[in-house]
Amino acid sequence: MNDLEDSIVKLLRITDRRGMEDLIEFMCYNDFFISPASIKHHGNFPGGLARHSLKVYYLLRDIQEKMYHMGADAIDPDTIIIASLLHDISNMVRYDGVEGAYSYNFNHAYEEHCMLSVDIIRKYTDVTALEVLMIRYHMGVYGTVEFNRGSGEYTLKEMLEQWKRSPIIKMLYICDETAAAEGL
Ligand SMILES: [Fe+2]
Ligand SMILES: [Fe+2]
Repeated sequence: MNDLEDSIVKLLRITDRRGMEDLIEFMCYNDFFISPASIKHHGNFPGGLARHSLKVYYLLRDIQEKMYHMGADAIDPDTIIIASLLHDISNMVRYDGVEGAYSYNFNHAYEEHCMLSVDIIRKYTDVTALEVLMIRYHMGVYGTVEFNRGSGEYTLKEMLEQWKRSPIIKMLYICDETAAAEGL
C-alpha cells in the first residue's frame, strides 16, 4: 500500500461506517488506487483518481474549517471525508486501458457520472442525504452540459437551488474545480 492509498483508507476507516471495509475491498478490486482521474483532462495518469480525491478532501476540509469560523453551519467530518474522497468513485469503472492510451469503458460511459458514484457507495455503505447532494452536484456547471450523454445530469436551476440550500454542496464543486485546475 503506498502513502496515497494508506491516507485514503485511513480516512475512510475513521468514519467507522457500516460496510466500509467491503467498500474499500471493492475499490481495491476495481483499481481505484491506480485509475486515472480523467482520460483527457486532469489526473490522466495512474493513481490520478486517488491523488485528485485526496486533494479535494484536503481543500474541502480546510475551506469548511474557514467557513465555520466565519459563521457557517458545522458539517460532520465524516461527511467531508465520504463526499470528497468518493465523489468520483465511478471513474474507477468508467475507463479502460493504460497510461497514454486510456479509453472509455462503454459499459459505463453513458451512465450519469455523479449518480453512478452514489449508486456504488450505496451498494456497500450508508450515505446521508447531504452527501448524496454534494456528490450529485459536484460537477457544478459542467453537470448541466455533461460531456458524453448529450444532456446534463441536472439543470442549472436545480443546481442553484441546491447551492442555496447548503454552501457545502457548492464548495465540493469549487474544490473539485480547484484540484483539476492544478492538474490533479
Ligand atoms: Fe467528477
Ligand atoms: Fe472530481
